[in-house]
Order: sequence, then C-alpha cells, then structure tokens
Amino acid sequence: MTHPPQNLIALGDFKPSDFWQTHINSIFYGIKGPQIHNHFQTYVSLDHRLAHALANDFYAKARGHHPENDIWYLQEWGVGNGNLAACFLSRLREIDSENEVYPFVHYILCDESEEILKGVRSNARLQEHSGKFSTVRIHAEQLDCFRPHSVAKIISNEIWDDLSTKVLLKHQGLYYEEYLCPFLETLPTEDFLEQFKNRDLAELAQLPNFLDTIHWERDFQRVDLDDWPFAETLKAHAENFKDEIPMPVNTGAFSAIAKAKELLAPMNFGYTSFDYGMKTIQDLNQEGRPYFNLYGGQYTFMVNFPLLEDIGRSIGFTKITREYQNQFVGEDLGSAVISLVDLMQNHPQVASMAPWDRDILMLGTLHALNTVYRSPYSGKLNYPAMEGTPKKQRKQIAKLAENLSGRGVPDTVAYVTREEVLAALKPLRKLGYREKDIQSAFQSPPPPVSFVHIQFS
Ligand SMILES: C[S@@+](CC[C@H](N)C(=O)[O-])C[C@H]1O[C@@H](n2cnc3c(N)ncnc32)[C@H](O)[C@@H]1O
Repeated sequence: MTHPPQNLIALGDFKPSDFWQTHINSIFYGIKGPQIHNHFQTYVSLDHRLAHALANDFYAKARGHHPENDIWYLQEWGVGNGNLAACFLSRLREIDSENEVYPFVHYILCDESEEILKGVRSNARLQEHSGKFSTVRIHAEQLDCFRPHSVAKIISNEIWDDLSTKVLLKHQGLYYEEYLCPFLETLPTEDFLEQFKNRDLAELAQLPNFLDTIHWERDFQRVDLDDWPFAETLKAHAENFKDEIPMPVNTGAFSAIAKAKELLAPMNFGYTSFDYGMKTIQDLNQEGRPYFNLYGGQYTFMVNFPLLEDIGRSIGFTKITREYQNQFVGEDLGSAVISLVDLMQNHPQVASMAPWDRDILMLGTLHALNTVYRSPYSGKLNYPAMEGTPKKQRKQIAKLAENLSGRGVPDTVAYVTREEVLAALKPLRKLGYREKDIQSAFQSPPPPVSFVHIQFS
C-alpha cells in the first residue's frame, strides 16, 4: 500500500476503484448540472456534426419501415446539455421532407442527475421539438422502468467512462485490483464527512469547491477473477494483457450493454456509443498510456473497447463494429475530418507558446476557418481569457472573441473537413501554418487513447 503524506486526512477507507469513482461522480454531476461543460468539452456539447451523422444514419435505416404502435422510441443515456438530442431531431426534421420518419419519433433523454435534466429542459434548441422528447431521471446501469423490447435505437456519448470501472493489473500470472482512497489536505468537519459519505447533494452544493482538491491514493490487492461479472469472457480477454499495465474493466458499461440488449425491440437500429479509450489490444498493451482522468473533480476511466466487444458478443449481439469517431463523422460528410484542436496541435510553434498565446492562435484559427464555414445553427462561441492572462493579451482575446461569427465553427473541438481547411489556407498561412502541418494534422496516426465509435446490432 502507498503511504499518504502525513498531513492528509482520509475521507473514508481504501475501496475498489469503482466504489469511489461512482461516489465522486454522482456528487460531481449532482451538484454541478450543466456547469459540467465549464470543466470539459465533448464532441457533441456545442458541435452538431456527430449528431447529424447519427440522424442521417437513422433516417436512412428507418425510412420505408413502420414502427410498432406508430412510434420509434429512441433513448439517449447520459445527456449533458441536450445538444446532441436537439441537433439530432433538427437534422431529422430537415431531411425528412416526406414526413416518413420524424413524425413517428419520440426521443427519451435519460440521466441520473436532476440538475442535468433541468438544464436539458431549458435548452432552447431542444425546446423547438416540444412534444417529441421527454426526460427520465434514471441510473444507466439500471433503467428498469422501461418495457423490454420497446426501443428502436439507443445512443450514448461519453458516459461509459463515468460508469463503474474496475482496474486490473497482471503480474507474473496473478491478477491484482486497484483500490482507491480520497484524502483532503485540510481537516474536514464531522458534518462534512457525513455529508460526503451520504452524498448529501443539497448541503455539498453550498460548500466552496472541494472536489478538485481531493488527493487520491492507490493500492493494488490480489483478486480472483471468478468473482467478477462475465468472468469467463474477462479471463479469456485478460490472457492478452502485458504485465504491469493497469487495464480498465468497465463493468458499468457491461450492464449498460446488457440493458440495451434487453430494451431493443425486434425491429431496431442498435446501440451506438462514443467514448474515449483504447480501440485495440495493442493500444491496451501500450506502456505508459493513461487509464484515468480527473476533470474539475470528476473521475473518469478510459474505455476498454476490445473487452466491451467481447462482452457484447457474449450477451448476444451478433454484429459489432469499432472505428475511430472521426471516421464515422468523416464518412457521413464524405471527407476526412479533424477537430480544430487537432489542427492547432500541428502548428509549428504551438509547443513553445505561452497558454494565452495559444488562446490567441486558437481564436485566429477559428476566424480563419470562419471565412469558409457556415453553421446551420446560430450561436456565438464564448471564449473567456484564462486566469493569469496578461492585460495586453486579455484585451486581444476579448476583441477576437467578440468578433467571432455567430454562424462560425461552433467549438474548439468541432469537426472541420479537409476541404474546409484547405479553402482557408490563405488566412491559416498568415497565422504560421504551413501546408505540411495541415497534411500531418490529417495523417497523424491515432494515439493509443482515442475517441472511438462502437455499434452493437
Ligand atoms: C461526460 S458527461 C457527457 C454528456 C453528454 N453525453 C455529452 O457528451 O456532452 C456524462 C453524462 O452522463 C451522466 N451520467 C453519469 N453517470 C450516470 C449514470 N450512472 N446514469 C445515468 N447518467 C449518468 C451525467 O449526468 C452526464 O450528463
């Protein structure tokens, strides 16, 4: 066991990783609501292209079929600010000129956090589809309130990394499980310890932010895989593990996939999920790759996609496909795509720039792309200067942000096509990008932890 520095105070005991991860995440989402997006961005929270690709795919598959009882029920699990649902429904309505699909759709947004669902119900883009959607507060590993075999399509984006995950380590033929324990530097009151233990959201929400001051200690203890869910599948998968590399075992995703199998109707379009993790066994066995992340106190684990594919097959899904997320969006748009951040990371000076100069470069890159890009939705990107930005650069950032187009690239992680980037070559050159930087942005091999799309049918 590791020995925490003496001045740290434990908030509980060492427990398997999934215990503390789910405990902390339910506090995080329960007290922050839609403010979560101040801590991290997702590929769907402002951008529309992934949602449109899903809508185009659903439309192509559903048209020409008639749903049982006249309704295609779609479910999304873990819904954030509701932008994916809103853009999906808007795109479906737009392409369905013959009213073959959109009038029969009902979209159910499922989330564990009431704060999140409150935000969703006030999402203006989604309100345009009033009557076509509903919200249900439910835990994605349970979902017991729905009738089996009643759902036509299930979607989730970046939820598996939040669900229960255990961590396994192989050492000389034996298996060890990761245990975690949270610590604080300052002495917490008895009241706080009780509220923390009981996840008393109303009380915890009144406190100054404590989540990102938690210090996590870890430890590995011997474990018998026979006691784990889907033990036979897991044992066969673990044979491939290299020694000493922590491997996430996303048991919450196992339950979600099993639930999807139970809920999908005889006529269905599968369970589609997007998440961040290792696409192949080689990626899993890559030494030194990260296996967890902390964002503003939220605790996420990378997703082990090869294992989830094995679990999906053992549950009874017969067609399972895995690809990089940008391939899925690119195929829909008929062109290779990257996010704006990927483009900027290939700028020749970016690595040596001060953080505020990187903000200025990002805003310049947005302006350059906005000369050719027109979003189907209006909404100006909010781009505040970060803490510590010197006055001169702060002014420059404010001016650049104010002048951003209301129909421009909607996010710094928004997808842009090769044609759009090449059409903006002239203003990009002025910012210091060379053609070879753009080529390498589109050709870089994917890192061992990437955004991946998996489809279970
Ligand atoms: C990382 S956010 C992603 C949100 C959205 N899908 C997106 O990509 O912007 C995870 C979402 O899953 C929800 N969530 C986390 N754990 C959950 C659980 N056990 N059951 C249902 N929803 C959960 C959170 O409240 C949050 O809305």
